[in-house]
Amino acid sequence: MSNESLNHRRLQATPRGVGVMCGFYAERAENATLWDIEGNEYIDFAAGIAVLNTGHRHPQVIAAVESQLQAFTHTAYQIVPYESYVSLAERINAVAPIAGNAKTAFFSTGAEAVENAVKIARAYTKRPGLITFGGGFHGRTFMTMALTGKVAPYKIGFGPFPGSVYHATYPNAAHGVTTDMALKSLTHIFKADIAPDQVAAIIIEPVQGEGGFNVAPPEFMQALRTLCDTHGILLIADEVQTGFARTGKLFAMEHYSVKPDLMTMAKSLAGGFPLSGVVGRAEVMDAPAPAVWAVPTRVTRWRLPPRMRCWTSSKKKRCVTAPIILASI
Ligand SMILES: Cc1ncc(COP(=O)(O)O)c(C=O)c1O
Repeated sequence: MSNESLNHRRLQATPRGVGVMCGFYAERAENATLWDIEGNEYIDFAAGIAVLNTGHRHPQVIAAVESQLQAFTHTAYQIVPYESYVSLAERINAVAPIAGNAKTAFFSTGAEAVENAVKIARAYTKRPGLITFGGGFHGRTFMTMALTGKVAPYKIGFGPFPGSVYHATYPNAAHGVTTDMALKSLTHIFKADIAPDQVAAIIIEPVQGEGGFNVAPPEFMQALRTLCDTHGILLIADEVQTGFARTGKLFAMEHYSVKPDLMTMAKSLAGGFPLSGVVGRAEVMDAPAPAVWAVPTRVTRWRLPPRMRCWTSSKKKRCVTAPIILASI
């Protein structure tokens, strides 16, 4: 089998919308090295798009998954719970930059975490409005497409999107956009689109990924926190990409003097296995009604390098890997 012949089969078998960047096909990978089906060796700088901060097949992750496979693969946590979900939540609660007591809920993908952060924020504030930023990326589901601040390539041909979403300007020194200009764009939204007392949350990536690796200046994050406190708006940090030491600290929000009310995480949380979560102030996290998430999902998505997705019926495996990754950072 050659890269070329497999590429030909791919074009026949899969739609063009599942775009791929590399013209070679992975056969195996170890730590930062990846080999293709022709035996060529690569240094994997992509790391599954920030999913593999601890490298491919971290020995502790593999050992945890192997041992879990010998125990059980799925119970539907909301039907028959298990200890690793609770202990991982405890671990995240202890390390996440959240003011006061924190609680954590787990999901499968980053987009699902963002969707649920929106649900929590709306349940807590009883308000509809959401403010995100131009250039931001929050996922490919309908709500997260709406939140995403880039039309091409993510939104083309897929509208209409859920409403009550407004895009402010993200500061960007490279393009001459100052903190002051970005803050004025929020004032404009409050004047032209939605009153601040109707806004549930401002959702921000502390470092925009898809938007060009823009870092939110400290004074901007501070001003957002003040704005949120003034108007009873929740500040949600989307740390799906920045989380788990991508910026040198466990979470990018640790670089700031202010804390978010809610924070999403995924990607390197489970080192290549699909697990996401929302951590937040306990009072906020408890806003959705009891059992709101108790819909048994037997089928969950796995995240496999390089960003391929397949279907499986397992859930627990994802949960046991994460504490081990946290321990290894
Ligand atoms: C900041 C951010 N939020 C959300 C997502 C969506 O995550 P997922 O692809 O796991 O749904 C991503 C994915 O790249 C992301 O970078």
